[in-house]
Amino acid sequence: MNEIESRIQSLRSALEQHNYDYYVLSNPTVSDREFDEMMKELEQLEEQHPEYADPLSPTQRVGSDLSKEFESVAHKYPMLSLSNTYSQEEIQDFYDRVARSLNEPFEIVAELKYDGTSISLTYEKGILVRAVTRGDGTRGDDVTANIKTIRSIPLRLRGEGYPEEFEIRGEILLPWAEFDRLNKEREEQEEPLFANPRNAASGTLKQQNAAVVASRRLDGYFYYLLGEGLPADGHYENLEMARSWGFKIPDVIRKCSSLEEVFDYIAYWDVERKNLPVATDGIVLKVNSLRQQRNLGFTAKSPRWAIAYKFQAEKALTRLNSVSFQVGRTGAVTPVANLEPVLLSGTTVKRASLHNEDIIKELDLHIGDMVYVEKGGEIIPKIVGVDVDTRSILMGDPVQFIKYCPECKALLVRPEGEAAHYCLNESGCPPQIKGRIEHFVTRRAMDIGMGPETVEDLYEAGLIENAADLYTLTIPDLLTLERWAEKSAQNLMDSLERSKEVPFERVLFALGIRFVGETVARRLANAFHSMERLQQATLEELTDVNEIGGRIAQSLLNYFADEKNQQIVARLKAHGLQMAMAEEKLQNRSDKLKGLSIVISGTFSRYSRDEYKEMIEQNGGKNSGSVSKKTDYILAGENMGPAKLEKAAKLGVKIINEEEFLNMLSE
Ligand code: IVH
Repeated sequence: MNEIESRIQSLRSALEQHNYDYYVLSNPTVSDREFDEMMKELEQLEEQHPEYADPLSPTQRVGSDLSKEFESVAHKYPMLSLSNTYSQEEIQDFYDRVARSLNEPFEIVAELKYDGTSISLTYEKGILVRAVTRGDGTRGDDVTANIKTIRSIPLRLRGEGYPEEFEIRGEILLPWAEFDRLNKEREEQEEPLFANPRNAASGTLKQQNAAVVASRRLDGYFYYLLGEGLPADGHYENLEMARSWGFKIPDVIRKCSSLEEVFDYIAYWDVERKNLPVATDGIVLKVNSLRQQRNLGFTAKSPRWAIAYKFQAEKALTRLNSVSFQVGRTGAVTPVANLEPVLLSGTTVKRASLHNEDIIKELDLHIGDMVYVEKGGEIIPKIVGVDVDTRSILMGDPVQFIKYCPECKALLVRPEGEAAHYCLNESGCPPQIKGRIEHFVTRRAMDIGMGPETVEDLYEAGLIENAADLYTLTIPDLLTLERWAEKSAQNLMDSLERSKEVPFERVLFALGIRFVGETVARRLANAFHSMERLQQATLEELTDVNEIGGRIAQSLLNYFADEKNQQIVARLKAHGLQMAMAEEKLQNRSDKLKGLSIVISGTFSRYSRDEYKEMIEQNGGKNSGSVSKKTDYILAGENMGPAKLEKAAKLGVKIINEEEFLNMLSE
């Protein structure tokens, strides 16, 4: 082996060890910086010497952004599920059944039931060759490329004693902290939120782009070995061995030799699970001996040697008093259950979301029903079932989805293939009208000092119907309203006057055009410079702008084609709102960052994040949200996230600070 090859090998094994220490043992022995430097060196060597390429190299864990359809593969052993139990009696029944069938002593292994998405990994000669999702239990998707990005999953096994070929099954999870971070990021980027970590984990695994998967920091916990020639007869002992091969085996598994011990385990974890980094929804009990497992065998759906006990989701029983329907700013209609107030995990619940028509039908809800309300991993409580036994002859009317808008009586439309209903009467439906004005005045849009109650009062008094009407308000108008005095009226007038200085891109955002969020508005403003030019833009000109797709372009065309909107825009212009980029801004524009893609990370002292975003775009650069191969620079402030750092180092992206960035612009 020459010097280069041996350096490559030693870097690889050191990095592998560090990955294991960090992600499996949670016990890092080198600093992030040292790790990054080694990774960078390895990457450079691999690039210069493609002859030593290795798909198992630690550099291969960042995922490529080549998209690929998943291949469907058959499971060698079907992926069955467990039968669920909910009470001590049912566990007792299971235990008795096992005792009767075996007619000899046995041990039970108690484990936590992890609430993620299941995966089956195949190892051959100690190397990860395939990772397949559960699918329908018989066939699943080959998601190997995505799984390889999970740092706690060994690509190559450690230690010894593993069979020539075996499968290991477990759960892919998104830790709570990551789930929160991801949702926060999605909120900022105006993307729909994940309801719970399970959905987020399975959604992530199905991502076609492994680089996106890599950025989400999934984890994998393993609990089931399959194959010939496993080292021991005990499930527990095999898992212990698997731990020594580098797998993350939960260290909370216990061998129990009596039912009492099992109940103690359940009682302990029912409380303690709230302190775990990942979601769990129950306990799994398994007969330890594989020989005994074989004797017990399987039913069509699940093993006879194992059972799941599901923790009580925090649930309450209460009465459904009525269902109301809410209309949002975009016209979407949401059914909401009004409940007899009930205490649920420390808060009083009066309302629960019913989501859509299909869910109401599925529950077969009737007014007056006693319903179960649950607060699971979800943020808003939901109705999970009806206590049909308490229904009497006096059963209330079935809950029907409404046909007409509760606010403006327009016929509702449920678009083909969608579950939601919409009111299309944009210009005549009060909550849509008020919602648009509320959006117009918010801080990040026109920043006019008024809240939803004021919008409501002004609308009810017939003083405003759209954003342009705000600018015709007078002090005497306001004084006709309750609770308004000279002072507050003058304040609003001042605030309206100040809003005339709000820059064009925020005016554009304030209009509330569908799909035109802050980022899109800024891009459009930079590309077209004025409302006038934007109004004249064709579909093609619009989609020519970086990151503006057909959906956004069409929405803009629709908006400007509507005469009512044209009038509003014209009136806003007549009132003196900024309808073009300021001259000074146009002069400040340059091509200094042309063609450069820059990611902003961390917190800054000289200017705000938003100001830096703007500077990048003003100078011809592109501001993007996540680090990829295409990133040229990361503008880093304080507290830049470790994931971004690691990725930057891996991809060799240059990191610059505020001063360096400002220098680039002033050069
Ligand atoms: S054993 C043949 N152990 O629960 C049974 N499953 O309904 C093999 N799960 O699909 C599964 N934690 O996704 C087992 N400690 C655990 C588990 C567990 C979570 C999931 C798994 C499985 C489902 C069974």
